[in-house]
Amino acid sequence: MGDTARICVDGKTFELPIVEGTEGERAIDIRKLRSETGLITLDSGYANTGSCRSAIPFIDGDQGILRYRGIPIEELAEKSNFLEVAYLLLSGHQPNREQFDYFLKSITHHTMIHEDFKRFFGALPKDAHPMAACSAAIGALSTFYPDSLDPRDERHIEISVHRLIAKTTTIAAYAYKHSVGQPFMYPRNDLSYVGNLLYMMFGNPCESYEVDPVIEKAIDLLLILHADHEQNCSASTVRLVGSSRVNLFAAISAGINALWGPSHGGANQEVIHMLQAIADQGMTGREFVERAKRGDPGARLMGFGHRVYKNFDPRSKIIKKACFDVLEKLGVHSRLLEIAVELEEIALKDDYFVERRLYPNVDFYSGVIYSAIGTPPTMFTALFAIGRLPGWIAQWLEMHQDPDFKIGRPRQIYTGPPITSYVPLEDR
Ligand code: CMC
Repeated sequence: MGDTARICVDGKTFELPIVEGTEGERAIDIRKLRSETGLITLDSGYANTGSCRSAIPFIDGDQGILRYRGIPIEELAEKSNFLEVAYLLLSGHQPNREQFDYFLKSITHHTMIHEDFKRFFGALPKDAHPMAACSAAIGALSTFYPDSLDPRDERHIEISVHRLIAKTTTIAAYAYKHSVGQPFMYPRNDLSYVGNLLYMMFGNPCESYEVDPVIEKAIDLLLILHADHEQNCSASTVRLVGSSRVNLFAAISAGINALWGPSHGGANQEVIHMLQAIADQGMTGREFVERAKRGDPGARLMGFGHRVYKNFDPRSKIIKKACFDVLEKLGVHSRLLEIAVELEEIALKDDYFVERRLYPNVDFYSGVIYSAIGTPPTMFTALFAIGRLPGWIAQWLEMHQDPDFKIGRPRQIYTGPPITSYVPLEDR
C-alpha cells in the first residue's frame, strides 16, 4: 500500500491515498472523502485541484520547465515544426517518416471549407472579433459532418481531428479577410501549413504572394510554443464541455471562447494595446509600472504573471529572442519592443513584482512579432487558438481514453437563504 494522508474530522481519523506522478508530483486522492466524511473540498479557481492524470505536457512552475510528452520545449522550438509537434501531442510519440507523411497529406487535403460556409462570414458585422467568428464557425462545422461526430468512434475522431487542424487556419483567415473587406483566398495545398495560413491572410487575387521564410518560421515557432499547456482555463473548458460527450467541434468551440478572455489568451492583444497606449501618451515605463502597482483602472501589466510559473515562463524567453531575431531580419524598428523591454527591466527589479513572483508570460512579446508582420491585434488570439488546437484535442482524446472518465461536475458550498415560502404576487 502506498502513502496515505490522514484527515481528522469530528474526532475520527480517515485515511486518503496519495497518488504520485512520474515527475514526483503528489496529490491526495479525495474521491472517497465525501462518502466517508460528508465533506467536500473548496478551492476557488481550482488553484490547488488536480482535475485529471495527464501524460501530455509537464510543467514545473518553480523551475520554469515545460515539456511536451517529455521533450523540452526548447528542443522542440529549435528542431521541430508545428505539425510534427501536433502529431506528438495527439499520438504520444514522434512520427516516423511514413506516419508524418500520412498526417501531413491528410491535413493538407482537408484545408478547404464548404463553399456555402463562406456566406457564414458575410452575415457577421465587419468589425466582428475574429475569436467570435472562429468559435461560432468551428461550432458550426459540426453541421457539415453529421455522420462523423461520434466521440467514441475511432474513424470519426481521426477525420474530425484532421478537419479541425486543417480548417481552423482557413476559418481564421476568412474571419480576417471579412474584417478588411477582401476576397477570401482558397487554400493552396502546395504551401506549408503556416505558408498557407499567411497566403490566405495576406494574399489577394490581384497579385502574386511570396511567403517570406523568416515570417513563416517565426509563426511556426509561435504555434509550437502555444501548442499545449496542461489544465489551463481553455483546456479545462474543452475537457468539461467534452465530458458531456458532445462532439469535438462543440468542445473546441467552447475552448476558443475561454481562450478569448484577457486573463488568458486574449492577453496578447491587450499587451499591444498597453504598449501602444504608453507610446501614444508619451508615458515612461516607470510611470506605467507605478500605475499597475497601484491597481489603477486599465493599468494591469498585461503579459506578466502566471498561475503556474513562479520563476520564469520558458516560452517567453524563447519568444523574446525570436522577437529580436525576426525584427532584425525584417529590418523593422519597433518602438513597442523598446517599451516592452523597458517595462520588463523595471518590473523584474521592482519589489511588487519580485514578491509576487510575476514574470513575463507567453503573451508579453508575441504580439510584437505579430504586429511586425502586419497582423492586426484582433487576430493575435486567433493565432494563439490555431497553435493551441492540437493541445486541446489531445486533452479531449486523453479524457475519453481515461478509465476514470466521468462527466465533469464540481460541487459547491451553498451560501443562499435557508428554506423560505413562496409569497403570491398580490401579497408582496
Ligand atoms: N500586473 C499587476 N499585478 C499583478 C499582475 C499583473 N500582470 N498579475 C498578478 N498581479 C498581482 C495581483 O494583483 C495579486 O496581488 P495581491 O496579492 O496584492 O492581490 C497577485 O499579483 C497575485 O495575482 P493573482 O491575480 O491572484 O494570480 P492568478 O494566478 O490568479 O492570476 C493571471 C494569474 C495570469 C491571471 C494574472 O497574473 C494576470 O492577470 N496577468 C495579466 C494577464 C495575462 O498576462 N494573462 C496571460 C496569462 S499566460 C497565457 C495564458 O494563460 O494564456
